Amino acid sequence: MNHAMPDQPTDEELIALAREARERAFAPYSNFPVGAALLGRSGIVYTGCNVENASYPLTTCAERTAVAKAVSEGEHEFEAIAVVTATGATPCGACRQILREFGGAEGSLRVIVANLDGDMRTFTIAELLPASFTPDQLG
Ligand code: THU
Repeated sequence: MNHAMPDQPTDEELIALAREARERAFAPYSNFPVGAALLGRSGIVYTGCNVENASYPLTTCAERTAVAKAVSEGEHEFEAIAVVTATGATPCGACRQILREFGGAEGSLRVIVANLDGDMRTFTIAELLPASFTPDQLG
């Protein structure tokens, strides 16, 4: 679901949207549901969940679901993403690279991870993926 926020959402509001998205996860194989809420510069929040498959490697992570939804609707610049799991896990390596693509020249995209108790940690994508391969390196 997309949410046009009237005001700049707080980190807590993003976490709440990610938590709702987690409820829609399709994770019958891992039983590890993940929810994400990606805040675009437009003020729209795009949510995502992990979508698993009986052919396990075809799984799509929650973060990538949210990015695909946003980009397919024309939004390419993002301010923050909240990711909610039972354990407060950080995004996988593949998702870090996908987020880095859209995380701004300096990698300033904020990545907020939270568990179900609301404990949160905040990073920039540049911190999560240092010395990363970025679009400008294509020359
Ligand atoms: N998963 C995500 O959705 N995001 C991540 O960054 C890490 C892993 C999902 C993939 C799989 O459905 C489940 O979590 C267990 O790995």
